[in-house]
Amino acid sequence: MNIPNNFHIIDHALIKHKLSILRDIKTGSKEFRELTTEITSLLAYQATKDLTLSTCEIETPITTTKGHKIELDNIVLIPILRAGLGMVEGMLGLIPNARVGYIGMERDHNTHQPLNYYFKIPKQADRKTFIVLDPMLATGGTMIDAIDRLKDLGAKDICSICIISSPEGMNEFCNHHQDVKIFTGALDEKLNKNKYIVPGLGDAGDRLYGTE
Ligand code: URA
Repeated sequence: MNIPNNFHIIDHALIKHKLSILRDIKTGSKEFRELTTEITSLLAYQATKDLTLSTCEIETPITTTKGHKIELDNIVLIPILRAGLGMVEGMLGLIPNARVGYIGMERDHNTHQPLNYYFKIPKQADRKTFIVLDPMLATGGTMIDAIDRLKDLGAKDICSICIISSPEGMNEFCNHHQDVKIFTGALDEKLNKNKYIVPGLGDAGDRLYGTE
């Protein structure tokens, strides 16, 4: 399969191990939430690898030297409601000063099209680094629309993290947003006729919050 340049599958034993438990139908909500947090942190470690650094002078007990600094409060996490909320804790564990904006998108169960019902992000989007969070990249429609809206407000520096992706979502997303890097823990086989990822893990929101 041809993997676009902006699509990054993070190949890591811990992610594979935790993802297998996450997928398991027997895994309950408590463990599902914990694993989502842990997998998100592992993906975030890669996704934040190239954040812009400035230099600063620091004093060690021995001498002064050059240090590096990330403008942490310029980083905005954007969980796509509702399943993206499950990824916020894992991100804030690494970047506690990050801001958190919200995009509410819901799939119409008949048309499978995303509907936007809530949008709240910090001002001066052109000066921020956005990390958009949604555990499942299925058709790609939700993530594409969310990033369209951020770009409409001037956002230039955007990446996204999804725990599991489908080939259909990958191709759709990467054709639409070639300038946005996407980091994922697994590229699954396909979508089924209801646009769920196969093998996937079912409905991520329901499994996180016990609403099946
Ligand atoms: N959303 C989910 O929660 N699961 C899927 O498989 C696809 C979209």
